[in-house]
Amino acid sequence: MKLTKRLEVIADLVDRNAVLADIGSDHGYLPVYLVEKKIINRAIASDVNQGPVDNAISTVKQYKMENEVEVRLGSGLNTLSMDDKIDTVVIAGMGGNLISQLLEDEKELARSVKKLILQPMTTKIELRKYLLNNGYTIVEEKIAIEGEKIYEIIVAEVGEGELWDEVYYDIGKRFDTQSEEYATFISEKLKKYKNIVSKIESKGGDSSKEKLEKVKNDIRVIEEIISHID
Ligand SMILES: C[S@@+](CC[C@H](N)C(=O)[O-])C[C@H]1O[C@@H](n2cnc3c(N)ncnc32)[C@H](O)[C@@H]1O
Repeated sequence: MKLTKRLEVIADLVDRNAVLADIGSDHGYLPVYLVEKKIINRAIASDVNQGPVDNAISTVKQYKMENEVEVRLGSGLNTLSMDDKIDTVVIAGMGGNLISQLLEDEKELARSVKKLILQPMTTKIELRKYLLNNGYTIVEEKIAIEGEKIYEIIVAEVGEGELWDEVYYDIGKRFDTQSEEYATFISEKLKKYKNIVSKIESKGGDSSKEKLEKVKNDIRVIEEIISHID
C-alpha cells in the first residue's frame, strides 16, 4: 500500500511493535499499512461514521488483516477500553478543537497511552494550548507537504507541559528547524505575519498600536529562527 506524504510522515512516528488506535481512521489505510510493513502487529481502526467504518472493513478484508486490525464504530476514544492496552493513539485529519475535545472526553484513557500523534487540519494553536495546559508535553513536531498544503503533526506525551511564549503555539517549538520542509513552513508563517502588519498599518488608529507591536515582535522571533537555518 502506498500512503500519501501526510500519512507517511505520521506512519514514521509510530514506534515498532506499538499497539495502535487510529481514531477517525476512515479507510483504515494507516493501520493496514503499518501491519503490512510489519512495523506493528495489532491495531484498532475506529470511526464515528458508518461509511468510513465500512471503508475500513473493506480495506482490512482486502489485505486479509481481520486478525490484526479490528474496526470499531463510535466517537473518539470511547471505542477503546483499558483492556485494549493501546499505547499509541493517532488522531489525524480533524480540527484541533475536535481533537482536544476527544482527548478531554476520555481523559483517563488518553493519559494512559505512551504517545499521541495528532494532525490537526485547523485550530492548531488551540490544540497546542490544550495539550500544554492539560498535563501533556509536546515532544516532537513534523511537517508534511503535499503540493500547496502544509500539514503540521504534533507528538505529545503525558508530562509536565511547560508553557510557551504565545507565538510558539502558532509556529511550534519542536520541529527539526534544519529540515527542508521546515524552511517552507516558517517562511509561510513569516509571510502571514507580514501580511497582518500590512493590514494593521493600512487601518491605522491608536487602538491597533499594541497589536502592531506584538506582531512585529513575533516577526523578530521568526526572523531570528530563520537566521539560524543553514
Ligand atoms: C478527513 S478524515 C481523516 C481520515 C484519516 N484519519 C486521515 O488522516 O487520512 C476524518 C475522519 O474522522 C472521522 N470523525 C469525525 N469525527 C469523529 C469522532 N468524533 N470520532 C471518531 N471519528 C470521527 C470522520 O468520520 C472521518 O472519517
